[in-house]
Amino acid sequence: MQKKAAQAAVVALLAHGAVQGAPLATGSSPDGSITVSVELDSDGRANYSISRKGKLLIAPSKLGFILTDSYDMVRGFKFDSAENKPTVDEKWEQPWGERRFVRNHYNDLIVRFRQPTYLKRAMNVRFRIFDNGVGFRYEIPEQENLKTMNIADEVTEFSIASPGTAWWITGGEWNRYEQIYQKTPIDAVSTAHTPITMRLDDGTHLSFHEAALVDYSAFWFKRAEKQTFRTTLSPSSKGPRVTRETPFATPWRAIRIGDSAASLVENDLELNLNEPNKLGDVSWFRPQKYVGIWWGMISGKWSWAEGPNHGATTERTKEHIDFAAKHGFGGVLVEGWNKGWNGEWFGHGDEFSFTEAVSDFDLKVVTDYARKKGVKLIGHHETGGNIDVYEAQLEDAMKLYGELGVDIVKTGYVADAGGIIAPGDTPGEVRKEWHDGQRQVQHHLKVVETAAKYKVAVNPHEPVKDTGLRRTYPNWVAREGARGMEYNAWGQFANGPEHEPTLVYTRMLSGPMDFTPGVLSLSSPTGNALASTRAKQLGLYLAIYSPIQMAADFIENLANYPKELDFISKVPADWAESKLIAGEVGEYAIFARKDRNSASWYTGGVNDATARMVDLDLSFLEPGKSYRATIYKDGPDATYLTEARHNIAYETKTVKAGDKLQVWLAPGGGFAARLELVK
Ligand code: NOJ
Ligand code: CA
Repeated sequence: MQKKAAQAAVVALLAHGAVQGAPLATGSSPDGSITVSVELDSDGRANYSISRKGKLLIAPSKLGFILTDSYDMVRGFKFDSAENKPTVDEKWEQPWGERRFVRNHYNDLIVRFRQPTYLKRAMNVRFRIFDNGVGFRYEIPEQENLKTMNIADEVTEFSIASPGTAWWITGGEWNRYEQIYQKTPIDAVSTAHTPITMRLDDGTHLSFHEAALVDYSAFWFKRAEKQTFRTTLSPSSKGPRVTRETPFATPWRAIRIGDSAASLVENDLELNLNEPNKLGDVSWFRPQKYVGIWWGMISGKWSWAEGPNHGATTERTKEHIDFAAKHGFGGVLVEGWNKGWNGEWFGHGDEFSFTEAVSDFDLKVVTDYARKKGVKLIGHHETGGNIDVYEAQLEDAMKLYGELGVDIVKTGYVADAGGIIAPGDTPGEVRKEWHDGQRQVQHHLKVVETAAKYKVAVNPHEPVKDTGLRRTYPNWVAREGARGMEYNAWGQFANGPEHEPTLVYTRMLSGPMDFTPGVLSLSSPTGNALASTRAKQLGLYLAIYSPIQMAADFIENLANYPKELDFISKVPADWAESKLIAGEVGEYAIFARKDRNSASWYTGGVNDATARMVDLDLSFLEPGKSYRATIYKDGPDATYLTEARHNIAYETKTVKAGDKLQVWLAPGGGFAARLELVK
């Protein structure tokens, strides 16, 4: 059956006259399971293909660029040379993260092409082949006839060889990345953001994304026909979507490959494809949990603007600092502290000041008070998408925070997609750009580098997608870039029960998310219920990783649930190890994570709308040792659909490696457990 399908595929390819004969170059992963072949077709178009365990995964797929001002770099290529580099096998340490040590184990294949009849231009492609994925990028050498490359579009193809299911959100939509995921057959995807996740009918799991997005536009994953997709770059106001001087390398195009959902999650492909830490010692950044003056504004109870309901007052901030100090939170986020919120700020940030506080908020008083209590203020820079205004104040704004000991700043770019206001080429000129276009990609790095100078960490909302740059810039600690908790303030069950078990296998493959879990009241003040049980709110701290984790509810609500608050106070935001011990894409996700700073393990996660019993294998625990388990799980009849969403059961027991922990997950449920070593 499989053989027949493969023969049919070959016949179909030959019929199109695409690729014939032996490959020009091949490379394989260290264990030999993944192979890459590179060919030229009869028109001189460069193609690559990927096989795994002898089976074709990515059928011959074209490589190249369309340029705005010269012959395209698509046809007429001749093979120049190829090189297989010796295996690299190294281990590097993350300053913070899901795991302390990361193995980087790969083989490089470099293939060099020339276009003899089109200005003799050269294009090299480097494939980095791992046992659990492939990265490749274009490396455009310095050359006489290509000094500046004006890219109309990159036309890298991904031709998926067999059918399956995809989980994805739409690229280029007004709401950026803040969408509910769609689950469709692969051939029903239109234009997707990455990461996009797929499960082929034979069980192979794939994720397509990119790594090291620097000075280039993000790509969207656009279906050309059937199961063939093509990169299309986020637009630019300038004509070419990307302009670069040669020599340069594009971001990596990255494909995670494995047999299971866990093989996608326990996979550091994009981090490994990024450059090592450029900032040196970042121990000034402490992974932490935080509370904030936030849910009140998001849910409409308080205002960002000055007036009778102004949220960010000095007094309220002090109350939050007291609460944070009492319950072990490291930070207090305060939004609406600065001037500029009084008018129309959505997509309109020309009035924001990032250094001047409003009259009922005293920045010096609250930062002094926080310091005395061992807590830090978390800063906030909402730009309304106006980076013209923000960049002009950036240095002063970061310097101010640095001086006051504000060492994390949440930034924001609230504007519809394409609505970033960027400085133009001449004074006074402004340009409209995309949240993931080359100009905004440059902007984010400028913010991160400026912040680093003042020992400030950055957490952008309405960001560009994460492509693993936290390895190079470890003060880029989190970002939004998906529908977070805020949507639950705006509508009943606004993020459905399957949202978080989908995020784990899609958005979260790109890196930490400031999701802002911990709404223990399971409701907004206007009465919108969350599609979540109470135990699921705790499970989110295990399922959605970030080194800064909010407890988003009002502090008086958090105080109403002392047992749950105790769990949130104790759960780490920095791990030595992380494993997905049970789960399927879009259904459920249960992690086991080991604390970076103690012998404790934590396990827990989230469920979709289908109740299920899971048998968790505790073999991750250290053999021969006993652990005291404090368990928070869905109580009898719990369901997100009714008030029974508050049904929670608590249990403590002793467990050891090899034990099984059976847990029932309610519809919209979850669970969490702390496993402390018994001395
Ligand atoms: C949208 C962000 O996601 C939210 O967290 C923030 O409070 C508002 N913008 C205002 O900056
Ligand atoms: Ca947002």
